[in-house]
Amino acid sequence: MPAVSIKPDIYWIGVNDRITDLFEGIWPISREGVSYNSYLINDDKKAIIDLMKSFKGDEYFAQIDEITDVSKIDYIIINHMEPDHSGLLRTLRRISPDVTLIGSAKTKKLLEDFFSIRDNIEVVEDGDTLSLGKRTLRFLMTPFLHWPETMMTLEISDRILFSCDAFGGYGAIQGSIFDDDCENIDFYQKEALRYYVNILANYSPRVLSAIAKLDGTLVDVIAPSHGLIWREETSHIVDLYKKWAECATEQTDPGVTLVYGSMYGNTDVVMNAVAQGISKAGVPVEIFDAARTHVSYILSSLWTKRGIMIGAPTYEVSLFPPMADVLNMAVRKRIKNKKAAYFGSYGWSGGALREMQKIIEPLKWDLLDTFEFLGAPSEKDIKKAEEFGTLFAHAVKKGD
Ligand code: FEO
Repeated sequence: MPAVSIKPDIYWIGVNDRITDLFEGIWPISREGVSYNSYLINDDKKAIIDLMKSFKGDEYFAQIDEITDVSKIDYIIINHMEPDHSGLLRTLRRISPDVTLIGSAKTKKLLEDFFSIRDNIEVVEDGDTLSLGKRTLRFLMTPFLHWPETMMTLEISDRILFSCDAFGGYGAIQGSIFDDDCENIDFYQKEALRYYVNILANYSPRVLSAIAKLDGTLVDVIAPSHGLIWREETSHIVDLYKKWAECATEQTDPGVTLVYGSMYGNTDVVMNAVAQGISKAGVPVEIFDAARTHVSYILSSLWTKRGIMIGAPTYEVSLFPPMADVLNMAVRKRIKNKKAAYFGSYGWSGGALREMQKIIEPLKWDLLDTFEFLGAPSEKDIKKAEEFGTLFAHAVKKGD
């Protein structure tokens, strides 16, 4: 894509990635893509805010060429050192060896660790400013959004917040980079949630601190490092991020995530009866096959729904492995404050329930009910499964 003007002499120079299959080597983006948003301010002094992954360098430098000579860049503002932001740094320094790198004190250390760069670094602290001529930048330290060195950069006169990973999301740019020109906001919201839970959820208290810190700062444009630029209603994405961060400690939506796995269809039959029971109670349910759905997608639902219904058979005297993987990731992401229930088939010994309880123990989920059945479910089992679903859904709705 060509460079896009955000304000006079301020440009988006991002690149879409529809080739990488796994973000961070873990999270699928082959269908959705991702954008690496970088920004160029063409003032008396020329500054780039965040670079991008070492990828499609020709396209990236061609965007800069549209605006200025890349060798004339004075500053690279390094909001974040993760390689999806900093990957092109070594290449840029080869073209422009005298460029000054600006970042936090921790960035200085990471520059040495990741790139063996020790020179032309200027460390800034919270609230420090940098004049580019007509425009001035202010730096806001926002540690752990998403690494310890991370900061945001505010352009003061047009009130543009270059927010780094915060307020960003998966999803390559589909034509327009702005929220007010976008006909598919739902896609970006959904992908921002998935990104939030995959990447930032563990730092939810830091997200809330950063939002509190921004309170009172006038911001007309939020320009994150991934996904849409928000300028029509900046509060929309901030409110969503706040709501998702609060899910770490507070009551979530009164819905149920039903995650199941089935080897030969027996747990699947009961799953459908359980889902019917939940629906009869008027509670929304999202269903995921643990063996066929990447956990990246399941996490969005687990994070935001109050109830978790787990359906999985016993496998080798233990829990069906794809379900164990999902629950282990829930532990890693510290998904707490949930009401849970379990159902599943066993052949002779059982063991799934015992392992499931062991895995989820650190999360202190409120395990309300369990329902195990031997072999194939009988008609009585199926009827019981429906009632089991309804009772659980009522408890989720009640919320206490
Ligand atoms: Fe966009 Fe933390 O990387």
